[in-house]
Amino acid sequence: MSFKWIDKYSCNITEIDKQHKKLFEIGDRLYALASLNDAYDHYDEIMDIFNELKEYTIYHFDYEEKLMEKYGYQNIDSHKIEHMFLLKKAQKYEKQDIDADQLKSTNDLIAFVSDWITSHILQTDMQYKSFFNEKGIY
Ligand SMILES: [Fe+2]
Ligand SMILES: [Fe+2]
Repeated sequence: MSFKWIDKYSCNITEIDKQHKKLFEIGDRLYALASLNDAYDHYDEIMDIFNELKEYTIYHFDYEEKLMEKYGYQNIDSHKIEHMFLLKKAQKYEKQDIDADQLKSTNDLIAFVSDWITSHILQTDMQYKSFFNEKGIY
């Protein structure tokens, strides 16, 4: 698993790519911390970064949704539902009793963050790429 931004993630819209890169950067920090195999407990730090990711995601989702609204993107409703599900799931992770099994919780969290960042961009965000480009948005 990796959180390195590569060209295939590009939606060909400068501001969106910039925001996605930021999500990758936060995800990468989270992953690096979760992969540390030392004797220390990093859970609080992991949750701090997780919260940072969540806050930035709220900002980013809002930006995308406003852009979709402004240009009358046809798949806006299903796209918004996906955003909502991801944020709901993130909230569940926040409330979880993480002390019980930290390794499993951390692995679950990373898998979720990967789904959140990479799958959503590749499968859902990518669908608006040509729509916006055709409207002259780059
Ligand atoms: Fe996005
Ligand atoms: Fe999105």
